[in-house]
Amino acid sequence: MDPEQPLYHRLGGDEAITAVVDEFYERVLADDRLAPMFEETDMDALRAHQTQFISSVTGGPVDYTGADMHAAHQHLDVTHDQFALVATHLREALETFDVADEDVDTVMSVVGDLEAQIVTA
Ligand code: HEM
Repeated sequence: MDPEQPLYHRLGGDEAITAVVDEFYERVLADDRLAPMFEETDMDALRAHQTQFISSVTGGPVDYTGADMHAAHQHLDVTHDQFALVATHLREALETFDVADEDVDTVMSVVGDLEAQIVTA
């Protein structure tokens, strides 16, 4: 696909990112090491915010209306290991879809840069 396009469009826009996010949280919730963290969470609201978030950081025409990454995770005491597990589920969810390897790597590098805001344990 056209490398000049914003990553958002190369990923496939709203429909594809929504599908990636659904796949991602299916994997996260199927992981006993992570599922307890989401027990109190409204998953429909989280899926909607995560879809907005990934869309906006990849250059999509979408405003993210949730909390900033530090504020959203501070109360969870996320560990480095939990962060790595969640990141792996995101990578595997992206790889389930027809996303170019370098685009997967770009998303993962954006996400990796968030670790300092998300990991507070
Ligand atoms: C890997 C990078 C991550 C990204 C990009 C990310 C992104 C987000 C976003 C956009 C929200 C929504 C905030 C809102 O609705 O205001 C959120 C909430 C949440 N995240 Fe993450 N997150 C990441 C990692 C993690 C990790 C490692 C955990 C724990 C294992 C986690 C657990 C949660 C939970 C439980 C919520 C909902 C909090 C609540 O119900 O109030 N996230 N995250």
